[in-house]
Amino acid sequence: MTGLFITLEGPEGAGKSTNREYLAERLRAAGIEVLLTREPGGTPLAERIREVLLTPADEVMHPDAELLLVFAARAQHLAEVIRPALARGAVVLCDRFTDSTYAYQGGGRGLSLERIATLETFVQGDLRPDLTLIFDLPVEIGLARASARGRLDRFELEGRAFFENVRNAFLKRAEADPSRYVRIDAGQPLAKVQQSLDTLLPNLLELARG
Ligand SMILES: Nc1ncnc2c1ncn2[C@@H]1O[C@H](COP(=O)(O)OP(=O)(O)OP(=O)(O)O)[C@@H](O)[C@H]1O
Ligand SMILES: [Mg+2]
Repeated sequence: MTGLFITLEGPEGAGKSTNREYLAERLRAAGIEVLLTREPGGTPLAERIREVLLTPADEVMHPDAELLLVFAARAQHLAEVIRPALARGAVVLCDRFTDSTYAYQGGGRGLSLERIATLETFVQGDLRPDLTLIFDLPVEIGLARASARGRLDRFELEGRAFFENVRNAFLKRAEADPSRYVRIDAGQPLAKVQQSLDTLLPNLLELARG
């Protein structure tokens, strides 16, 4: 039995974590095993790598080092958590995955998309999410929500141009493959966002039940 791999993507403050909980509740209420996890992180080692990636530091992190750390954490997460959960037939709801690498390290930092794709295949083999929800919203709204939450992490300290590039990279990926991606208008009030998620639920339940 293979489960269902769903990723939630989008910039800071888009509502990925908030709506991940919402979707999980809905799926669990229908009797489906749901595993909630996140990237970078999801295992003790990968969470230590997350700390390194997110903590502001005096030493500037080379973009290649950043890219390799992201994929190092992902390799651990896949081996310890994601692949075993999919193997037992669970629905995995993952808050950020490789689309964030294309958006932040590709779009934001300007690293080669071909290089990212090479690492993607190296680390994931042919595993790709079955469905990716892109929580899309204007950059200033996302940044305002994130900064209302408190101290900014190493990415949130980037400037507006960085986040415009991140947003555009997500949208470009979503447009290139409408069979895998669903764009959610995340700038709306939460109740509206959750209404859009509700419209996806029948389809999700059907996929989850195989
Ligand atoms: N549609 C919405 N309208 C208004 N506020 C929202 C909405 N969705 C989420 N929020 C609020 O915005 C903040 C950020 O939401 P959340 O933590 O879910 O975003 P995120 O996408 O997980 O961000 P990050 O990538 O930084 O983890 C939270 O305080 C949340 O309550
Ligand atoms: Mg979050």
